[in-house]
Amino acid sequence: MKKLKLGLIGCGGRAGAHMNSFEKMSDVEVVAVADPIEERRNGAAKRFGCSSVFKDHTELFNSEAARGIDALVIAVEPTAHTDIEERAIELGLPFLTEKPMTLDRAQAQRIAAAVKEKGLITSVGFQDRYLDLMEIIKAELPKHRAGGLVYGAWVGGIPGVWWWQKKSTCGGQLLEQNIHLLDGLRYLYGEALSIYATASRGMIVPGRDASAEYDTDDHSTAVIRFQNNVTATLVSGCYSKDVRPRCGLYITLDDMILDYRLRNNLIITTATETRDIKRGVDQTYLLDRAFVDAVMTGDASLIRSDYCDAVKSLELAFAANESMESGKVIYF
Ligand SMILES: NC(=O)c1ccc[n+]([C@@H]2O[C@H](COP(=O)([O-])OP(=O)(O)OC[C@H]3O[C@@H](n4cnc5c(N)ncnc54)[C@H](O)[C@@H]3O)[C@@H](O)[C@H]2O)c1
Repeated sequence: MKKLKLGLIGCGGRAGAHMNSFEKMSDVEVVAVADPIEERRNGAAKRFGCSSVFKDHTELFNSEAARGIDALVIAVEPTAHTDIEERAIELGLPFLTEKPMTLDRAQAQRIAAAVKEKGLITSVGFQDRYLDLMEIIKAELPKHRAGGLVYGAWVGGIPGVWWWQKKSTCGGQLLEQNIHLLDGLRYLYGEALSIYATASRGMIVPGRDASAEYDTDDHSTAVIRFQNNVTATLVSGCYSKDVRPRCGLYITLDDMILDYRLRNNLIITTATETRDIKRGVDQTYLLDRAFVDAVMTGDASLIRSDYCDAVKSLELAFAANESMESGKVIYF
């Protein structure tokens, strides 16, 4: 069987989850890895027995090894994308890249236009689209009267990566982390009509609760209107220390409540019954498998969020940030 030859750009935390997937796939071979952190690139290379090891994406793209790669998986911090996707497009290499794909709005639009023009297979790491629980919600919604309120939340602590401490390097929690639920709302309800968002700082004291340079929002609230009378309120918070507030989506229909508890379970309540459905899949594995299968077969329809679609979620997050700054409602 011909194996798909993958290159990994970025060998940090999220790349580890992708590596777990590829380790389980007998038709995939990781043939090249790149990361400025020696320990990380060597660790990844050792895991897959690969000898093409590079200190960054430029070294990888300029190497002979680049010619032997069928597709790329890009998992670098939000500000490190520089020309990674552009170089992949030049070489005609399909890629799976992590959200948020960049903090540069213009760059995101340029890349989307270029992949569209080239007809390149791309995927973005919106893992929740591959969840069985999300599929159940998506199938259930059309069976009910349109409209209703949705409450969404992602409230927890500050992630450990250095780049999360500053809004200029992470984009803020809504854009970096809660973009998963924002994208989930788009997946369920289509394009937003408007967004209004507020943000607050002052709970977390830099140098005490976070590093001295911490300057991102402690929490934010976005109100998003969708077609068919749906309004969602999405809260994000990173100030929690010793408690774990509930995260997920709470969807109130006229005759049903869909209580989606983030990546864990879905409680469906009607007048006559309550069902609790546990997550039954490894959604990151399914995300990776869909990308591999799409590249191997040329069937892009297997991908639930390609770059061009993901840009719409990223744009919605940028609009929320804009609204936090201006205090204005952004209409689309
Ligand atoms: N889809 C998801 O569920 C999910 C989960 C976690 C993180 N993420 C996203 O994945 C991305 C990476 O997050 P992370 O937690 O792995 O961060 P990380 O800091 O742990 O890893 C990023 C790695 O990229 C490397 N890197 C930077 N520039 C590079 C370059 N030019 N060439 C090669 N490697 C380079 C860094 O040295 C680092 O090891 C972020 O955008 C994050 O939002 C997605």
